[in-house]
Amino acid sequence: MAELDAAYLRELLALRGLADSWDIRTVEEVESTNDAVLLDFQGAPRVLFAESQSRGRGRRGAPWFTGPAGANLAFSCALSPPLPIEHWSRLTHVAALAVCRALQAYPPVNPKIKWPNDIYLELKKVCGILLESYPRRNCAVIGLGININGTEEDFPPELRDIATSLRLETKTLVNRHELACSVLFHLTELLGSSAEGFASIREELRENSLLLGRPVRAVQAQGILRGIAEDLGTEGELILRLPTGATLPLITAEEVRLDDEVK
Ligand code: BTN
Repeated sequence: MAELDAAYLRELLALRGLADSWDIRTVEEVESTNDAVLLDFQGAPRVLFAESQSRGRGRRGAPWFTGPAGANLAFSCALSPPLPIEHWSRLTHVAALAVCRALQAYPPVNPKIKWPNDIYLELKKVCGILLESYPRRNCAVIGLGININGTEEDFPPELRDIATSLRLETKTLVNRHELACSVLFHLTELLGSSAEGFASIREELRENSLLLGRPVRAVQAQGILRGIAEDLGTEGELILRLPTGATLPLITAEEVRLDDEVK
């Protein structure tokens, strides 16, 4: 599979009217693109793609499986958010929606956002997003791992029932350059509109939600809370309807699973 080519990525972005909006870099291997993208970062939007990561990480310190070199996309976008800090949690939602929009161009897949930061195809995860914020540096890093061209054997056995790739779902090899540019295109557009307001983004998040209307469980320090995922709040928080009838807003740091999900 062809290695990612930064010049080609720039060309594709220019064709979408985004020449020079991102400083695009590629590297063979890093520990984690979320850290490496910050090296000498001065505020100009930057993207770092890596073919492999030796210590890719997910939320809550979980390891992230980047897959065989050349198969998937692992990249991090560093930026000074165009939003006051109290709205930075929007970045997670905006990134999830950007991936969801990009994946909609690959029929027959029907991507859904598993609040707040995973993308699922049917009931298997195809993308995870890790937002890390550095308010004192006025900087946020959005790390994205998307399973693209991996086969079932490429996944470790423990992930085979819960993760999938675009190739497995579409039965075709997918052009990583085009998909990466599509995600960046939608991300750029959504970042711009999120600074103006969140109502239309929230509506699109609702339309593409895996959880809304379904029984879920939230894993909290005090124990497990069960309820129905009823709605999204004005900043994208998940409104849980508890068996008592009360509602509880969950913030993006919380972990939520479908109640019938195995893991
Ligand atoms: C999750 O599902 O918990 C989030 C996974 C995020 C993985 C991506 S891959 C690129 C970037 N670098 C990392 O170390 N993590 C993110």
